[in-house]
Amino acid sequence: MLVNWPERVFCNSVARRFILKRQLGSLKAMSGLGPGARCLEIGCGNGNGALHALRAFEPAQYHAIDLDPDMLRLAAAKARNEQRLCLLRGDAQALPFRDASFDAVFNLGIIHHLEDWRRGLAEVSRVLVPGGLFLFEEIYPALYAAPILRDVLAHPRGDRFDGREFRRELALQALALQPGYRESRFTILGVARKAHSVS
Ligand SMILES: C[S@@+](CC[C@H](N)C(=O)[O-])C[C@H]1O[C@@H](n2cnc3c(N)ncnc32)[C@H](O)[C@@H]1O
Repeated sequence: MLVNWPERVFCNSVARRFILKRQLGSLKAMSGLGPGARCLEIGCGNGNGALHALRAFEPAQYHAIDLDPDMLRLAAAKARNEQRLCLLRGDAQALPFRDASFDAVFNLGIIHHLEDWRRGLAEVSRVLVPGGLFLFEEIYPALYAAPILRDVLAHPRGDRFDGREFRRELALQALALQPGYRESRFTILGVARKAHSVS
């Protein structure tokens, strides 16, 4: 589901850019992901996360997809000189990539925007190589479905998740949590590794 205008203001704010930089620093420490990886970011928004990730992780290539053409236009304007970044329009619930295409997938606050978040996680797992890494920052309904905020922000309402459900679904998708995983009342931050062999 696309972000509405109040959330768009937040996503495009200096505050969000600061949070992204901090979260990506933590994800780097947790993941140990080295240079030269083939990366995908789902729901890249205005590209701030992608630009930080390009500096922090030094990937060989970084694909970034989003459903919203306006967000992609902002990202394209910022990343004009960045050859490793490939922006495209697409749905995180039906990723336009072959199985096992990426060493790492980044999710910076977008899975909770999917009507079918389980499908989104299944797609992440599908496009990761065996042993590949899923780096995620997620938000719970305790925050965006709280009184007042639920009327200000626009999010899907059916079949939502908290930390326990998110962890359960990761396990079902053969994504094993790595040390350093953090869960608070409103958010989670962590890294999961795709199993080397999936039964
Ligand atoms: C809360 S914003 C986060 C943007 C960016 N990752 C950030 O951290 O600032 C969620 C983003 O997910 C995108 N989005 C929502 N549903 C999507 C879908 N089904 N497939 C791809 N992107 C989607 C929205 O357009 C929006 O840019």
